[in-house]
Amino acid sequence: MSGAVRKAELHCHIEGAASPALVRTQARKYGADVSGFLAGDAYVWSDFTEFLVAYDGAAALFRTPEDYALLAQSYLEGIAAENAIYAEIFVSPDHAAAAGLSPESYFEGLARGIEAARASTGIECRMILVGIRHLGAEKVEAAARLAATRPHALITGFGMAGEERFGRVADFARAFDIARDAGLGITIHAGELAGAESVRDALDHVRPARIGHGVRASEDAGLVSRIADEGVVLEVCPGSNLALRLYPDILSHPFDRLRRAGVKVTLSSDDPPHFASSIGHEYRMAAEAWGYDAAELTRITRTSIEAAFVDEPTRAILLGQLD
Ligand code: ADE
Ligand code: ZN
Repeated sequence: MSGAVRKAELHCHIEGAASPALVRTQARKYGADVSGFLAGDAYVWSDFTEFLVAYDGAAALFRTPEDYALLAQSYLEGIAAENAIYAEIFVSPDHAAAAGLSPESYFEGLARGIEAARASTGIECRMILVGIRHLGAEKVEAAARLAATRPHALITGFGMAGEERFGRVADFARAFDIARDAGLGITIHAGELAGAESVRDALDHVRPARIGHGVRASEDAGLVSRIADEGVVLEVCPGSNLALRLYPDILSHPFDRLRRAGVKVTLSSDDPPHFASSIGHEYRMAAEAWGYDAAELTRITRTSIEAAFVDEPTRAILLGQLD
């Protein structure tokens, strides 16, 4: 039933979207050993710290604009086949730099993949440039300064990913001020590995339009009301949360409770092959767990499109595709 529903995802890390098969192809191309983080056709990790090692290991195998064009195109064509009409990908110039790629070459390669997927499927995509929290405030500020120069027309937002337990949100406030002043959409990972207080800190210091995950806010009723009142959108990734063992099973996940409390919740896949997920899988899981019908799932897509960091003419066209 959910298969035919038009979908959108606001929260997917492009390096985390590399399938094991593609990573093996890249490893052959560069003569690299991937046995530390791939076994057969699956990523291998057992907690968030190990997950980051696998993530970085895969990212290190994308070294040219062509590599990134292939990655973006294959990811987007895959989700277009699940009826996704829109996606935002987190892009990390720090990961590109670690692989020897300049920001310009990185964005150009990604944009080429995005254009190719749009040509073959019609899917729209925008990029959110992220700083990596555990690299420290200076690096995140440098990423924000880069984003503020508007280095590519498809970069419409700024965010922060990485180890949420590193530093305090306040340390990163200046980076977000730089990005906000440049007119970029603002999102920040919070309330995933750290608790409700991390979401409150994000609201106080960063004033984001959206929060990546944010699900741990559900542990504080007052905070849930605040998020609902302020209209802050949560980019919720249930499959990721289950894989990282935030919740024991889907029925324990707070997505539906947050939704009933008036919070604007959306569905995304985060790092799909790491979590045996995809945007189609997330919608299917939500339909099965909480009994959402096609109309309700389409309302979730509508919330995503309404919260997308996209120009108004494109938003109108995307919303028109939901009627
Ligand atoms: N980078 C890639 N996936 C992430 C996640 N789930 N949380 C924080 N940083 C990430
Ligand atoms: Zn994420």
